[in-house]
Parts: sequence; C-alpha cells; structure tokens
Amino acid sequence: MEKILDEKLQGNSLVLEQDATNKRKLFIESYGCAMNFSDSEIVASIMAKEGFNTTPNLEDADLVLVNTCSIRDKAEQTVRKRLEKYNAVKRDHNPNMKVGVLGCMAERLKSKFLEEEKIVDLVVGPDAYKDLPNLIKEVEEGRDAVNVILSKDETYGDVSPVRLQTNGVSAFVSITRGCDNMCTFCVVPFTRGRERSRDPQSILDEVRNLSENGYKEITLLGQNVDSYLWYGGGMKKDFSKATPMQQATATGFPQLLKMVAETFPNMRIRFSTSNPQDMTEDVIKTMAAYSNICKHIHLPVQSGSDRILKEMNRLHTREEYFSLIDTIRAYMPDCSISQDMIIGFPTETEQDHKDTLSLMEKVQYNFGYMYKYSERPGTMAGRKMEDDVPEEVKKRRLSEVVALQRQLSQLQTEKNIGKTVEVLVERESKKSDKEWSGRTSQNAVAVFPKEHYKVGDLVNVKIHDCTSATLIGNAIGYSGTN
Ligand code: SAH
Ligand code: F3S
Repeated sequence: MEKILDEKLQGNSLVLEQDATNKRKLFIESYGCAMNFSDSEIVASIMAKEGFNTTPNLEDADLVLVNTCSIRDKAEQTVRKRLEKYNAVKRDHNPNMKVGVLGCMAERLKSKFLEEEKIVDLVVGPDAYKDLPNLIKEVEEGRDAVNVILSKDETYGDVSPVRLQTNGVSAFVSITRGCDNMCTFCVVPFTRGRERSRDPQSILDEVRNLSENGYKEITLLGQNVDSYLWYGGGMKKDFSKATPMQQATATGFPQLLKMVAETFPNMRIRFSTSNPQDMTEDVIKTMAAYSNICKHIHLPVQSGSDRILKEMNRLHTREEYFSLIDTIRAYMPDCSISQDMIIGFPTETEQDHKDTLSLMEKVQYNFGYMYKYSERPGTMAGRKMEDDVPEEVKKRRLSEVVALQRQLSQLQTEKNIGKTVEVLVERESKKSDKEWSGRTSQNAVAVFPKEHYKVGDLVNVKIHDCTSATLIGNAIGYSGTN
C-alpha cells in the first residue's frame, strides 16, 4: 500500500498541533505504507495524552519513535540507517533521548532488536500501541520494553487519531487491520496478524469529525478492503462461528461504502487496496452509483502469468482478472486502474515475464508500482523457493515493465486533453506558486492557474495539455459538489 503515498513523505517527521500543558517532546517518523502513516496518527494521539507534543527536531526529542516497514529488504535497510542517525544524535547531543521501533520491523524482529541495536529502548508491534504508556514507564525506569503481541480484535476504533502532516483536505481512515491471504512472497500476514474489521459506527464518527473540520476527501484503508466484514468484532476467519443474528446483520464492504457515500455526499471517497479475488460486482455497482466515490481502483496483480500467480498463492487467474477488469469498465468506462507488480519472483521465466507485459497492454493501466522480488524471511516463498532469478535479469525485466507502464500512463493521461475534469485542490503546484495542484476522481494530478480558488475547493478544470503524469488546464468554475 505504500503506493498511495508521495515518496517524498517517506520518513518525514510528523508534527501536530501543540498542547500547551504537554512538556515532553516526541519525534515520530514513518516509513512504508499508508497504514503506517495512519497508525502514527493513532500513536501521536495516545502519546499526546501522556504529555508528549511532537517536534520536527530530532535533537530536541525526549522520545524518538520510528514506524517501520518490512515489505522489502530495502525498506528495512532504510530504517537501519535512520537508527544509526538517532544513535549519533543521542551520543553527541542528547544522552537522555529514548528510541522506540514501531510497526512491521518491530513485529518481525521482536526482541532481536534490543540485542542487535543497542540504541533501541522500546519495541512495539502494530497491535500494541495502547500499551505505549506502560512501556514508556518501563523505559523511564531503566528497563527495555517490548510488546509485540498481535491481537484478535484491536482496530483502534476508539482512538481518535490526531492528523499529522496534513493538508487539511484529505485523510486516511483505516477500516481493516491484518491480512488473511498468505500470498507466498508477503510478510504482512506475519507482521500485522489476522484480518479484522472496524466498527462501521466508529468509521462514520471519524469521517464526520473530518468533515466538520473541513476535510474533503478520505481514503478507506486496509490490506484488502473488499474483504471488510463487521459482525460485532473479532477476526474475519471466525465469522462462521458468529451467531445467526450477527451473521444476518453483518456489514460488508459495499454496504460500508454506501453508508459513507450517502452520509457524506460532499466528501470524496477513495479506498485502497483491492485484492482482485475479493472485489465483487456489488462493490463496482456501488462505486458506479455514487458520484462522490472516486473512479479509481488500485488492483494489484503482481504477475501476468498463471503459473506465477499460483506460486504466489494469488487466488485468481489471468482470465479471471481480465473479466474483473471488463466488469469494472462495463459499469464505469472512465474508471482508472492501477497495479502493483513483482518482477523476478522465483522460477519466473522469460515467457512469464512476457505474460506480465501482455497483461499490462491488455489492461492499459493508468499507473503502477513495480518492484523487484525481495525474499522475506519466514514467508512461504522465503522458506520453500530459491530466489533464483539473477539480479541482472530482474533489473532488465523491471526496466521493461517500467518503460511499458510509462507509455501506458502517457496514453491514459493524453486522453484527458479537451475534457473537463473535477479537481480537488490540495496544495500549491511544485512548479509554480501561481498554480494549484490537485487530483481528479481518477487520481490523476492536475494543475491550473489559482485565480480566486483555494485549497479544499472542488473545481471543474478544462484540460488543454499534459506531461506524462500531470494534466494542465484552466478552471471553468466550481463543481456541483462543493
Ligand atoms: N495488500 C496489498 C499489498 C500489500 S504489500 C495487496 O493486496 O496487494 C504492497 C506491495 O508490495 C504488494 O502489492 C507487492 O507488489 C509488493 N510486495 C510485497 N511483498 C514483496 C516482496 N517480497 N518483494 C517485492 N515486492 C513485494
Ligand atoms: Fe500481502 Fe497478499 Fe495480504 S500481498 S498484504 S498477503 S493480500
């Protein structure tokens, strides 16, 4: 899920509004997926109640928390470099500073962190953030503290996140935690535990609060949002053990989407990530029925080869994926579709690679995120399959896939020329202080001269030009949904 994030955000420290009574300083930094950024907002909320205000300056911090990612080896190396940096600051400027590791690396490496990295005082897995106040006390009393217990029902539905690094326009709202899918390459089921869904009432409350505070767009987050199922709490896998009443009154993803879309008609709604095997026609119909549900689906496929999909334990075939795409386009011809691909999964042949390229051509993705396979310890592929595609071959195949995606993106972007699109203004354009930048319903970035418009406005923009990834136009008026 790291795709929804602007790469530039990676590692940024997060700062929230200050509480004058809080005396201690927290430096909190996040890596990886949107869920981590969202979790850091929960952590900051818990820590604010413990007397911590956030600071952007590492040197001033009483406590440093880093929310970590384990999805690929590179992500873990980045965090290790940061730990070295904290270590240096602690040594040279701030000997009383405490350092804690949160998130997926904490869960994966557990107390090994305390042994390996002397700098780490605190190790907290993704389901244990409510225990932070106790753990901090342990640390203050001079003991190392670890809690990496995964939960059956924790969704943090009762913690009201504080918005960090926000543009005040769009926010993440998490709806599920964990994943039950066991794709053979993926570490997430091990680091984030079993899948559970959050009470729809607490989701609606959070969106209401955002709406009252001027937010205009939310992204419902989960590893596999289409699998959302609320039946009173607990793990998805235990649904069959729920009472007949609970089963009959359960809320699935299409119902949740409908509830949010109807309750907040002026809020744009996005969601991520959709796993092809769980995306139903009902979800697609619901998207088509509400103009405030954005017409974009992030639909990772990972490979175009049936044999590789099977080895990955992705529970659909290439043909089934195509028929899903056909259904999406039948209901929403203008819906954009994006992908994730893994290049060089064990045993991937030249033919498998060609199948990936041909699948991409056929789907005509709007954009995508492509990665070389990175073996993760403990996963099924890590244990049972040799990482046998040579690095040069992975590199070459990746560059071919990236080049093709660039072409496809260009084609999709050009299709907007001459059209009028609705843009939600998010920020000033990076290129010019005289232009606004925002996104269309299809998640394309668009820029246009500011005129009298402001951040948070929904503006109809006539597109007259584009670069490979950015639409360029002029405002022609407010859109109806302001
Ligand atoms: N829940 C999401 C994906 C979570 S991980 C889904 O259903 O697809 C985000 C992306 O990282 C994945 O889609 C995959 O493309 C990539 N990824 C996961 N494990 C990987 C690995 N071991 N090596 C390379 N890329 C990986
Ligand atoms: Fe990972 Fe597959 Fe779940 S990619 S997050 S195991 S859907």
